[in-house]
Amino acid sequence: MLYIEQLRVAVGDTLILDGVNLEIQEGEVHVLLGPNGAGKTTLLMAIMGMPGYRIVGGRIFFRGKDITNLDVEERARMGIGMAFQKVPTISGITLRTLGRLVLEKRGLTDALEETASRVNCLYLLDREVGKGFSGGEMKRAELFQLLLQRPLFSMVDEPESGVDLDSIALVGQALRELFERDQVRTKKRSGLIITHTGYILEYLNADRGHVLMNGRIVCSGNPRDLFADIRERGYQECARCER
Ligand SMILES: Nc1ncnc2c1ncn2[C@@H]1O[C@H](COP(=O)(O)OP(=O)(O)O)[C@@H](O)[C@H]1O
Ligand SMILES: [Mg+2]
Repeated sequence: MLYIEQLRVAVGDTLILDGVNLEIQEGEVHVLLGPNGAGKTTLLMAIMGMPGYRIVGGRIFFRGKDITNLDVEERARMGIGMAFQKVPTISGITLRTLGRLVLEKRGLTDALEETASRVNCLYLLDREVGKGFSGGEMKRAELFQLLLQRPLFSMVDEPESGVDLDSIALVGQALRELFERDQVRTKKRSGLIITHTGYILEYLNADRGHVLMNGRIVCSGNPRDLFADIRERGYQECARCER
């Protein structure tokens, strides 16, 4: 589904990622861990093709096609989607309008309100996107859009941060739905989720975890084991055992 080879990414004049290798098979969900400022968000932005994240080396392949030089719209059309950590405000556009546009692209007209109610966004539909949203409301609004979009490959940046404990179950359930099989596809959808608390592992059967540090993925393995080790010994131990 996704194959990344020796990826190097610069933001402004600073090299943030320096040789990331990553492979995610169809139907697999991986989690990405790493200390603050390690470049986790940068990696997702580079995969999505967001402007400002300059790929200065390496290649990204999606379903066998080299997408390294494609723009964000082309990547979205191919089936890559992302829920952002920091969400922009879109003045004058309500969440309902945005949701309708997303559904129209898929040739659907209903499902808007039903999907909104699943992530407790009904009361947000007629507000401008992102405007005055609390941390939890932003996360739920992002997941709402991803659920409407139904990408083949979904990236989610820290879905649980800023979300109160009551809403974590809701977020976890929404993530599970995002990767479920449906009538159209027999295989599960794939994805990459950044998490720093590990809560979402309770809701989602993640296949593999990776630790990003010093611009590279320094460790990969069973996500629960990785989390237990990091909780016990911290990321600095990860750096020391770097191979
Ligand atoms: N627009 C930017 N301009 C300058 N530096 C940036 C920018 N965006 C990110 N960075 C820097 O890149 C590094 C990685 O950031 P980020 O990918 O957000 O890390 P993470 O998501 O792992 O916390 C940080 O040192 C951050 O300050
Ligand atoms: Mg981040």
